[in-house]
Amino acid sequence: MTEIAKGVHWVGVTDWGIRRFHGHELSVHRGTTYNAFLIKDEKTVLVDTVWGPHADEFLGKLRQLVDPASIDYVVVNHCEPDHSGSLPALMRLCPKATLIVSRGGATSVPGHYHESWPMKTVKTGDRLSIGTRELVFVEATMLHWPDTMFTYVTGANVLMSNDAFGQHYATAFRFNDLVDEEELYEEALKYYANILTPYSDRVLKKIDELVAMNLKIEMIATSHGVLWRKDPLQIVTKYREWATQKPEPRATVIYGTMWNATEHMAKSISEGLGEAGIESKVFNAAISDTNDMMVEIFRSRLIVLGSCTYNNGVLPSVTKTLEELRGLRFKNKIGAAFGSYGWSGESVKLLEEHFEACQIPVAKEGLRVKWQPAQADLDQCRAYGRDLGALVKA
Ligand code: FEO
Repeated sequence: MTEIAKGVHWVGVTDWGIRRFHGHELSVHRGTTYNAFLIKDEKTVLVDTVWGPHADEFLGKLRQLVDPASIDYVVVNHCEPDHSGSLPALMRLCPKATLIVSRGGATSVPGHYHESWPMKTVKTGDRLSIGTRELVFVEATMLHWPDTMFTYVTGANVLMSNDAFGQHYATAFRFNDLVDEEELYEEALKYYANILTPYSDRVLKKIDELVAMNLKIEMIATSHGVLWRKDPLQIVTKYREWATQKPEPRATVIYGTMWNATEHMAKSISEGLGEAGIESKVFNAAISDTNDMMVEIFRSRLIVLGSCTYNNGVLPSVTKTLEELRGLRFKNKIGAAFGSYGWSGESVKLLEEHFEACQIPVAKEGLRVKWQPAQADLDQCRAYGRDLGALVKA
């Protein structure tokens, strides 16, 4: 239980074993942590809990520092169960503690737990004295739930930002300066791309609002992964950059294939992109990690999607990618479609319609090949890739 600042203790749990998160929808190759914090002052405050299956470990850590019955306040920065799941077990031990929730939390907490726990609602700028220090609350609506809130601890100068600035990254270390920086940023970017991208405009506004509040931030204590202790605002700067969604001049090629015809097309298009000086990553949607593909898309100016025609549509493996594209609402992209077919041949048109529905302009009319591509078809795919590469550079 690291004391992260004077009187502020990490009482979280490291989940080394998890590989699928959000009901198996999100891959977490490096595990995760659920960070919760105990503040000991004239009042005793707990900020967030951990996911329910880890409640015993969490409460065991808490008991080493404090009698849970003495807790005065439990701040619920966000009610998603990875942070609030231990509330029922906790509140049985401290039934008189007052929950501090945002206006969004005033509905999400009862909506999840259907309990009549004492509850106080706060809004941005509200302050709560806990003795020698104060808690300052900052609502962070839709980063990434309506209830999301940051809690700042004066004196310690720690911003507890919940999911924002987090990483699904299990480690025995608590601070950014103690871990591999490349791994850390890989996970931070994956987190942003897959969770926060749709709310990028709000991220920019929230950062501006935080800056205007003039809080002296010496540490950002996110709820997943390591805490930003060394140069803590580096991740804020990075979020500003990511939130603008300015893409790199590169491409992501994703395809679904049954008998490799569309795969051959994908590889030739990628070669053509390379001939135009544009780097691309190529993924078979059926066997690739969707969240990793979304990171590549996040970085790329060009998205090239391919599918053979299957039952007058696209392959189910590609449909999952389309759903993510729709939901994550990427900006500043261009798209292109390709695919093989045997008879009806609708897939390319459907992919183009999907791009348009996602407000991703189609950069060049799609490319179709009947049956297996011959050498001339592959040459055409390479030329198509070169043309797309030129459009990326434009
Ligand atoms: Fe880490 Fe939105 O929960």
